[in-house]
Amino acid sequence: MSKGIPKHIAIIMDGNGRWAKKRLVPRVLGHRRGAEALDRLLKDADGMGIEHITVYAFSTENWKRAEEEVLGLMNLMREYIQDYIRDNDTSRLKIDSIGDLSVLDEDIQRDIKKLKEISKDKPGINLHIAINYGGRDEITRAVRDIAQKVRAGELSAEDITEDTLSGCLDSAGVPDPELIIRTSGEYRLSNFLPWQSAYSEFWFTDKLWPDFTVEDLKQAISDYQNRDRRFGGRNEGKK
Ligand code: FPP
Repeated sequence: MSKGIPKHIAIIMDGNGRWAKKRLVPRVLGHRRGAEALDRLLKDADGMGIEHITVYAFSTENWKRAEEEVLGLMNLMREYIQDYIRDNDTSRLKIDSIGDLSVLDEDIQRDIKKLKEISKDKPGINLHIAINYGGRDEITRAVRDIAQKVRAGELSAEDITEDTLSGCLDSAGVPDPELIIRTSGEYRLSNFLPWQSAYSEFWFTDKLWPDFTVEDLKQAISDYQNRDRRFGGRNEGKK
């Protein structure tokens, strides 16, 4: 049975480093071209019917990279967020973040908060930027929240359900992604939305992220529409 446009698409924007290496330019330039590719994609995908896009911009593991690259990525993030604040009047995007922001430089934390506030009533795509995000870290923080509620007597252990946990994740209130895209020929989840992706369809391409376009997105959606999502059931007679 053919499906509609996914409400939520999550993207692992991989391959910026290899894109840069192929051109003998610094890795950070690859990330910059990657940020530009995301920008173009968000403009081109506006109006297609996608409600949420979550992108993996910086993982809890990315701190292990060379200091120069970490600094470059943070500066890019800073610049990108400031550009979105500046262009908010003409932008249609609603922007927020997932991940533990508490260890980021204070100006970045402040600007993300500001961007979230000023873009919250925009009519376009909800862009969720995963920064210092790790799925296990997100689940651990949620469990800690729940434990505190139990200790405070606000919740009893027997009443904890899947919805309780979902509601304590950074992504609370956002539907689970129907489709997860990873570029650059890698076939891993890399700690990205492990809870939310329980029933997601995965789509992979060899293209490096800076080369990804809306045509690739349309191909991913078309392939998704032809898959048989059974959620553990059998969908008898549907295919
Ligand atoms: C993975 O490529 C990509 C990242 C670690 C960073 C992704 C960040 C961006 C696209 C730009 C910033 C985005 C925003 C929203 C400001 P890689 O470096 O692992 O590539 P490689 O596997 O080829 O080395």
